[in-house]
Amino acid sequence: MMKWKMEWDASMSVGVEKIDTQHKELFAKINDLLSALASGNGTAKIQEVVGFLESYTRKHFDTEENCMRRYSYPECDDHFAEHKAFIDDIHKLQDELKAGSKDALQTLKVQRRVCDWIVTHIANTDTKLGSYLKNNERASGQIAA
Ligand SMILES: [Fe+2]
Repeated sequence: MMKWKMEWDASMSVGVEKIDTQHKELFAKINDLLSALASGNGTAKIQEVVGFLESYTRKHFDTEENCMRRYSYPECDDHFAEHKAFIDDIHKLQDELKAGSKDALQTLKVQRRVCDWIVTHIANTDTKLGSYLKNNERASGQIAA
């Protein structure tokens, strides 16, 4: 089923406000990309939008990774590896766009690579981090993020 718009809802909350806020912003950036694709923009525009998505994603991953380090998150290696794989894939997408690959512009492909990844990562990996941070916060009285 083709989804043209990513919508964040409360079921995706990881329980840490700063991370949830950034996830919403990430969804907005992905929606910008989907609509740039859907409205048949040229490669230059698509590259610009992908660039915004890439830099916001790196900023967001930095936030999560700093939290993991600060709170000695035991599963940080696996989590970091997922982030790295995603950034590598965005860079690959950017290279394909630069090389003028029409294939790279296909909405379905972007959807599978970007949208599905984010939704799965939030549901499985970030939720685990969120619970850990919340427990830590309760135990230590410190603000997690
Ligand atoms: Fe994450």
